[in-house]
Amino acid sequence: MMQNGIKKIGVLTGGGDCPGLNAVIRAITKTAILQYNIEVVGFLFGYKGLYTNDFITLDLKTVSGIQHKGGTIIYSSNKDNLFDYTVEENGKVVKKDVSDIAIENLKKDEVDAMIIVGGDGTLTSARDFARKGVKLVAVPKTIDNDLAVTDVTFGFNSAVDVATYALNHLHTTAESHHRVMILEVMGRNTGWIALESGIAGSADVILIPEIPYNIDSVIDKIKEREQNGKLFSIIVIAEGATPVNGERVIQKIVEDSPDPIRLGGIGTKLAEELEKAIYPREVRCTILGHIQRGGSPTTFDRILSTRYGVAAVNLLNENLFGNMVCIENGKMYYEHLENVVGRVKKVDPQGELVYVAKSIGISLGN
Ligand code: F6P
Repeated sequence: MMQNGIKKIGVLTGGGDCPGLNAVIRAITKTAILQYNIEVVGFLFGYKGLYTNDFITLDLKTVSGIQHKGGTIIYSSNKDNLFDYTVEENGKVVKKDVSDIAIENLKKDEVDAMIIVGGDGTLTSARDFARKGVKLVAVPKTIDNDLAVTDVTFGFNSAVDVATYALNHLHTTAESHHRVMILEVMGRNTGWIALESGIAGSADVILIPEIPYNIDSVIDKIKEREQNGKLFSIIVIAEGATPVNGERVIQKIVEDSPDPIRLGGIGTKLAEELEKAIYPREVRCTILGHIQRGGSPTTFDRILSTRYGVAAVNLLNENLFGNMVCIENGKMYYEHLENVVGRVKKVDPQGELVYVAKSIGISLGN
């Protein structure tokens, strides 16, 4: 038992899946059992499992052999906001606050406290449950690395690695055919994945939402390279990037999602525009998509996830409910969810990473 009487905890993973989720689940379960001798259950499909009371026992056997696996063994959902949940009533589909049912289920199951693993949407609900008195702590997750307060989220490093690998491969065709190759990466409204993979993958141009691009600058860079005998160029563009005075390209609206906008397609648009401008040179675009969210977590992410998982259990033991574990200047710390939710961590156009990219001749399109 924990020093505050906690005997049983629940875990859920919400939002898009992300490499490292299983490593967090494993670290939470092992720490809870080995250090505190308490029970752990995992609610299935994020908050949905709290509402339907669908859970599995997490023990040393369940979490054995999962650290290197992508995804989450307790599944996830980025639609099920229990404070605004879609239910059928009298033959009609309505939105309802069903959070009290989830709280009742926790009481019924004798779950004393929760660990909620997720990005901004998931953490918003965690904050709302904390406001209703549920004892919980949160763990920050997203490949986008856009959560405020923490230096880095797990999954980001793995996504950057996949994007860098993709850039290595795109160089082959770019060089062989003297083409301009564009890679569109994820990141929502931030350019962290594009910036880091672009630097690591030797891109010539990196376009991010934080710095609206001017297509003439991109063309100038391609032409400058041609004058220097480089007849190919590599461009990384974040899905949320926009031209100066332009709009984001929306791929899809997912109506029942708390954050319904799905970005995608700006790379294809840029390819069409560039090809007209630099004819007869050909331009191709690859949209990396969910490839960068899947697969095995990197070593860095496994360690980060394990640190987060251990720290989250310890926060519960210390009665630090309503907080999210975070990393500040490399050290484990925590911050109250009230100060985390709704704050997006953007790339600083004046920051060191942008400066580094520019210093080695990469164009940011401005
Ligand atoms: O937040 C993670 C993320 O992969 C974003 O980078 C991307 O915009 C979005 O989720 C895609 O969501 P979905 O999996 O619903 O298409």
